[in-house]
Amino acid sequence: MTNFQVKTYDEYQQAYKRSIEDPEGFWSEIASTFTWRKKWNTTLEWNFEEPNVKWFKGGKLNITENCLDRHLKTRGNKLALIWEPNDPKERFVRYTYRELHEKVCQFANVLKKNGAKKGDRICIYMPMIPELAFAVLACARIGAIHSVVFAGFSAVSMADRINDAQCSMVLTSDGLNRGTKQIPVKRVVDEALESCSSVEKVIVVERLGWAVNMEEGRDVWYHDEVKDVSKDCPAEEMDAEDMLFILYTSGSTGKPKGVVHTCGGYMVYAQYSFSNVFQYEESDIYWCTADIGWITGHTYLLYGPLLSGATTLLFEGVPTYPDMGRFWQVCDKFGVTIFYTAPTAIRSLMGGDIDDVLSYSLDSLKVLGSVGEPINEEAWHWYHTHVGKERCPVVDTWWQTETGGIMISSLANVTPIKPAHAAFPLPGIQPILVDSEGKEITDNEVEGYLCMKFPWPGMIRTTYGDHERCRLSYFSTYKGLYFTGDGAKRDQNGLYRIIGRVDDVINVSGHRFGTAEIEEAINHNVHVIESAVVGYPHDVKGQGIYAFVICKDRPENDEWLRAEIIETVVEKIGKIAKPDKIQIVSGLPKTRSGKIMRRILRKVAEGDVSNLGDTSTLLDPAVVDEIVEGSLSKAKV
Ligand code: WTA
Repeated sequence: MTNFQVKTYDEYQQAYKRSIEDPEGFWSEIASTFTWRKKWNTTLEWNFEEPNVKWFKGGKLNITENCLDRHLKTRGNKLALIWEPNDPKERFVRYTYRELHEKVCQFANVLKKNGAKKGDRICIYMPMIPELAFAVLACARIGAIHSVVFAGFSAVSMADRINDAQCSMVLTSDGLNRGTKQIPVKRVVDEALESCSSVEKVIVVERLGWAVNMEEGRDVWYHDEVKDVSKDCPAEEMDAEDMLFILYTSGSTGKPKGVVHTCGGYMVYAQYSFSNVFQYEESDIYWCTADIGWITGHTYLLYGPLLSGATTLLFEGVPTYPDMGRFWQVCDKFGVTIFYTAPTAIRSLMGGDIDDVLSYSLDSLKVLGSVGEPINEEAWHWYHTHVGKERCPVVDTWWQTETGGIMISSLANVTPIKPAHAAFPLPGIQPILVDSEGKEITDNEVEGYLCMKFPWPGMIRTTYGDHERCRLSYFSTYKGLYFTGDGAKRDQNGLYRIIGRVDDVINVSGHRFGTAEIEEAINHNVHVIESAVVGYPHDVKGQGIYAFVICKDRPENDEWLRAEIIETVVEKIGKIAKPDKIQIVSGLPKTRSGKIMRRILRKVAEGDVSNLGDTSTLLDPAVVDEIVEGSLSKAKV
């Protein structure tokens, strides 16, 4: 589907201009290319004060009819989904659009049979297997709101998310494969559900063939349930502004919040951005390596490609198993043409033997993408040279869970590309840079806080169950603007370069954590009195987690204490949030009003202790000397 795909720089400029002058006309023409049960009455209603943003109000649709049903006539026998398992020796599986349609309908009927209905919230905690894709789409088919929780989060994190959304059902598996490891997923669900009273049913997909605890009346096997259900399931009619999904993400304060996306606008933006950024063509084999548990997996593994009628690849494994050439082997195996991954994966593979890349042809590749964190120039060049053979454009795509889709990015072979620069906004996207007073910086060769001044169809509508939190988090810092939390530069030609977060969010291997969230987890440890967490530059992960911790009784040997603290974080959040360094300290640098001066801690964490700035306003300046000394000694993990 190449509708509204801009093909030249000139066309991009025209589309951009039009999208600013007449956003409603622009988006409504694009939206008209989709299948609607009923056309919308109003294209856009908005204010950024409350905020209240409604796209395609009054329109009726079901996103899965657009992902599946509408392709059946022309693409019924085209491959929709290719699944490559963790172990290359296990056979891959392919589904045509017709087969995927059937699988989704069957899963939807299993959901209905077990009591799920429109508006229910359903938590999905599953490995990267085809049933995860079926499950997500099945929820959308019946109008249930999916809340996918990445299967690396702990039971406590899952329980928090289930309780926040009051989910009535959990979809999971017996276990999962990750490289050489097998992980007992169902056991984590059982533990989580000890503190979740809203969940009535758990549907378990068999992956490993493990015997698992099945609670009578609550837990059922998917393979039993699916036996006698129909292969057809009419799609529920949804309002454009009905919720499609909730996805939890971390901010600078409190617990992760449930970012809400709605059916109509998200659909239009997912497809439009997918088609334009990657310059998707009908014969492409597209591979996004992100887990469906993150927004990238939602928008660019599932919805965007399927809405476009593309063939999308779902990979269960990791880049380094059975060896460092796994990604490239899979590209060759299926003739992948568009490849989309994260800088952290590239950096970890750069560390390996160059022959791990060079021994694959990678001839099929046309376009490469990067997402999740700033891509440093070294990684960009390695990716461009060794993977793309200097033939494939590398698009650096900047966006967020809250934006629903890619916002600032080069369009492959269409708009200018500059290493480590996200470059230009997509048509319809109006970024601005502001100074700390919120005043717009209009020149080029500047740096500022990145905001959006106009709504786009894929944007966040609310944070689940707490609209005020949405307002405070994104719309209150700068009046009348959506604030991204990122700082950015604009070069002399107007190309954007994203610098990174300016709030207390750290980005570890492309995963977002609030420093407060990690501190709260650490503080649960019985030995801990107080802690302060900051990010620091890390060669592979982008940012590492550095924790300064005050303990009650400091033992002779700090090692076991650190191990205990790590254990607590793994239990409360998950392995992905493990601190890289823990420094036990006797005090933290605080101002007289009790505020921790993170600026100083950040410098210490970065190893830049030569100029710590003015410490005279601290309650106890001596504490800084001790921290610096500790950081320079071996007293770290
Ligand atoms: C960062 C992931 C630089 C940024 C899609 C943003 C990036 C946060 C890029 C959102 C990029 C994402 N260049 N930084 N191309 N892409 N980020 O919600 O700080 O997991 O605010 O969404 O990741 O992370 P999230």
